[in-house]
Amino acid sequence: MYHIISIHDFERSDLDYLLDRAKEFDTGGYRSRALEDKLAALLFFEPSTRTRMSFATAMARLGGRWISVDSVEASSIVKGETLADTIRVMSNYADAIVLRHPKEGAARLASEFATVPVINAGDGAGQHPSQTLLDLYTIRQSMPIDGIDVGLLGDLRYGRTAHSLALALAHYGVTLHTIAPGGLEMPASITLELREHGMEVVEHADVGEVIRDLDVLYVTRIQRERFPDSASYYNVASSYRITLDLLNGVRDDLMILHPLPRAGEIDSAVDRTPYARYFEQAKNGVPVRMALLHEVMK
Ligand code: NCD
Repeated sequence: MYHIISIHDFERSDLDYLLDRAKEFDTGGYRSRALEDKLAALLFFEPSTRTRMSFATAMARLGGRWISVDSVEASSIVKGETLADTIRVMSNYADAIVLRHPKEGAARLASEFATVPVINAGDGAGQHPSQTLLDLYTIRQSMPIDGIDVGLLGDLRYGRTAHSLALALAHYGVTLHTIAPGGLEMPASITLELREHGMEVVEHADVGEVIRDLDVLYVTRIQRERFPDSASYYNVASSYRITLDLLNGVRDDLMILHPLPRAGEIDSAVDRTPYARYFEQAKNGVPVRMALLHEVMK
């Protein structure tokens, strides 16, 4: 594995391998100094808390170092520099580049100009493969992924975490239940691809009609920053919310996941239930990103 750009590039064996490696780092591997002489460039041209900090933490845990650009405003992008030029230069500073960018396809483009591995940390409404690995890792800590029922709730149109996760779950014989507000449904091209892969995809209008049948409910935020105008955002804002009432009669081992940040989709009262696993999920970002960084730079 060299670049980590899209879940499309992964076979099931690649996913399982990385999850196994993450497990090793999770159980004792924190003492590894495997990347002692390595430097990662974290280029974040979009806001991020968890992804950026967990990549930095993962580098530090492996004995490595990092440099970072944390905003478009603080970089020469505002002077009109192209992404290609930024990447060419960073390739000479660092041993790997972790890139978050508002444009879909940016990570793939960057990989064409980079002379070091590129890890996609989110490209617009495209993909977010490292998030997917930590999502899978969190599920696998509790149950085998094969054959489970997963509900994807929220902005499935613009949500890159939902796109990557759905494609990955197609490798595990999962039944996918999609629940999206009108206009924010999963892009038809992805649904078609999932079905061609043999995945059963069932669309629902309301989370209440399916929540009792789920092993995993993956909640996502409406991606306000991707909307063409604020009126179309306000039409769908607050159209779904997970509350304690909604959880009556769910499976005992239901896992509620969310890539975070949340913006009102999950009532904070749900945090105290055994179903709430989103903070544990965020914690798993560190061993999973250790495995990814180690894999591309070892
Ligand atoms: C997600 C993202 O950036 O796509 N967050 C994350 O990386 N944990 C989800 C989101 O912003 O809604």
